[in-house]
This record gives sequence, C-alpha cells and structure tokens, in this order.
Amino acid sequence: MCLDNIREQFEIYKNNPDLVYLDTCATSLKPKCVLDKMEEYYTKYGVNIHRGVYNLSYKASSEYDEAREKVANFINSNFNEVIFKRNASEALNYVALTYGEQNLKEGDVVLTTELEHHSSVLPWMKLCERKKAILRYVKLNDEGRITVEEFKKALDNKVKVVAITLVSNVMGYVTPIKEIIKLSHEAGAIVSVDAAQAVAHFKIDVKDLDCDFLSFSAHKMMGPTGVGVLFGKDKHLKKMMPLEYGGDMNDEVDKTSVTIKEIPYCFEAGTPAIAEVLGLGEAIDFINSIGFDKIEAHCKALHEYALKLLEDVKGITIYNKTSECSIISFNVDGVHPHDASTLFDENNVCLRAGHHCAQLITKWLKVNGTLRASFYIYNTKEDVEKFVKVVKENVKFFSQFN
Ligand SMILES: Cc1ncc(COP(=O)(O)O)c(C=O)c1O
Repeated sequence: MCLDNIREQFEIYKNNPDLVYLDTCATSLKPKCVLDKMEEYYTKYGVNIHRGVYNLSYKASSEYDEAREKVANFINSNFNEVIFKRNASEALNYVALTYGEQNLKEGDVVLTTELEHHSSVLPWMKLCERKKAILRYVKLNDEGRITVEEFKKALDNKVKVVAITLVSNVMGYVTPIKEIIKLSHEAGAIVSVDAAQAVAHFKIDVKDLDCDFLSFSAHKMMGPTGVGVLFGKDKHLKKMMPLEYGGDMNDEVDKTSVTIKEIPYCFEAGTPAIAEVLGLGEAIDFINSIGFDKIEAHCKALHEYALKLLEDVKGITIYNKTSECSIISFNVDGVHPHDASTLFDENNVCLRAGHHCAQLITKWLKVNGTLRASFYIYNTKEDVEKFVKVVKENVKFFSQFN
C-alpha cells in the first residue's frame, strides 16, 4: 500500500480537518478497516467465543483464533505463546506477578534501567520490596542510552530477571536487545521486554531475539484500546500458575479442586475483549499491507525534516537528536512543558507534555518533563511545518517573560 493517500484511511481527519496529530507514542490513530472489523463482529456474529454450540459462536471463535494466529505470525511465536491481556501494562505486571512471584527469592536481583516506562519497572519494584530482592539499574551513557558495555558491568549471577524496554517512549532509542538477551541468558537470567513503543516501528521476531517475555498494546500499532499481548516462551508459561481463575480457563472443577486448561487459555479467565482482538488482527494486516520498510522510511524522513527545520531555532533544547524512532523530546528553555503545550493546543497540534509515565528518565535529564512530538505514517511534511511554526511562536511568546 502506498502512503501518499493514507490519511483517507483515518476518518478522524474528516472530522478534524486541521488536526496535526503528533502523539502516536501515547496512542496511534485507527484506520477504517480496524473499526469496520469491530463493527462486523458486533453486527454479524457478536456472540461469545469458545462456549456456544451453535454456528455464530463457531464463527466468532474461529475469527478470534485467527487473530491470535496473526499475532503469533506477526512476532514469529507459536500460537499458544500469545496471551491476550488488556494492555502492555497488564501484560508487564502479569510477568512480575506470575513468573516473578513464583521464582524470585530474597537477595535475587532484578536488573532494569532508567529508560523504563513506569509499567515496566514498577511491578518489579513492588515485587522486590515484598520478596526482599534487589532492584538494580544499568547506568545509561552520556546520551541516555542503554549500552552493552554498561549492561555487562551491571550483570552478575545474582541477576534473575532483566526488565527492559526495547524502545524508550521519551528518547526513542532502540536498545541493543539481542546482545543483552544473550548475555542475560549466559548469566542465568530471563528477560522481559517492553515492546510497547517498538511494535509499530519494526519487525519483532521473538525467536530470533530469544526473549522470554514480550509485552505490547494494540492501541499503539493502529489497533483498538482494551487489548494487549503478552508473549511468553512456552517452557515458562507451562510452569506458571495463573493469576486469575474463573470462566473458560479451567477443565474439571469439583468442590475442592480444579484442573486448568492448557496455555494460553489458562491465563485468560473470563470473556475477553473479542471485538478488540479482531481489531488487532486487522491492524496487523494493515501494517503488513504497508510493510515496515515503508513505515520506517516515512517516519525517518519526517523526523529528519523536523530536526532540520529546528536546527536554527534558538531557545529550545532537544534531548534526543539521535532518536531512531521518530520521537522529538524537547523543551522551550525556561518554560514548563505544560505551559508551552497550551499554544500547541490552540493551533490544533496534539503533542504530549509532562513526564510521559517515565519519571526516571526525566529525572535523569534533570527536567520536570518534556514536550514530545512523535511522527507516524499519517503525518505529512505540512504537519512538521506547522509544528515547527508553533515551536517558534512559543519561543517568541515566552521570551517576553524571560
Ligand atoms: C514504553 C512503554 N511501555 C509501556 C506502556 C504502557 O502501555 P499501556 O498504557 O498501553 O498499557 C507505554 C505507554 O505509553 C510505553 O510507552
């Protein structure tokens, strides 16, 4: 699919013709095919799955299973290694609350970084508190990146879990994850990867990475809100006990005992987000029909164009000029990002202001937050120009008070 007329696929632009949407890192826009798929489910076969013994239920169940197959192909895992959760946060918590809870002991170390989103680090922080385990941080380099060199220094045989982001949602840096996973395994640790930002930008192959767990949300890759994915290696999943018990996750139940279903079903108690899972399957088809090469070429071109236009703007600080994933984190010097964001809003430019649920890195940067512009396939050169125009207006406006 060609990207020239891609906006036609995103109806939000019809209802908001002046919209400059630069907040894909928070959530992506959704193409019509994803919305149509969810409507198809509700209007044509909107019944429960894996329960009914009638045709409509078989249809809904087979669509649902097909979507799981699409996710498995998308990340190159096995079908039974894909667990549907509500979002990346729930998936990341699930790893800590199941694998972590069942394996971590007093004195063990969980290794993480200051680049993490709160959802990647807080579940482990709280688990370490309960278990009297130690949460250790890899030192970032001068640019704020995770490097293999510093990772090696922080790794020893006390480390049992590595909880690490694949792409930072503030800096847009890509972690050298393959090497880190290899080193972690050699030291006897498992690796839980937060792929929430990565999944919309490049192909993830869990077999090639050899990661133990990997989490992401559908809504950041043009799918709906309400569904996320937890990948786990089947050798771990088969040993883990579910966190939730209830409908459709069990086989035999009597008054004092229960036998649970095989993976992944034992980890999905209750009626799932059926329409949303189908929407995720459609988002995967949509991404595949474009191809990551085109997605990345487009985002990179916009990112470079924005950096070029910002080059001569005095009075701003950009914190991540070398970001690989088309994110610009910056501040208007001397201005709180929330104050600066007002002028963007007045001009229909949607970007994020604040700590982005990643306070460790904003503290590392020694700022109370940043403005963050993130580009994706539906953005254009005109969006970039409008964004830069408002950056300049911001600088001019606030220079009166400095
Ligand atoms: C890197 C990263 N991890 C995890 C999350 C959590 O995603 P969700 O809010 O969909 O659970 C986000 C969301 O911004 C993120 O950017």
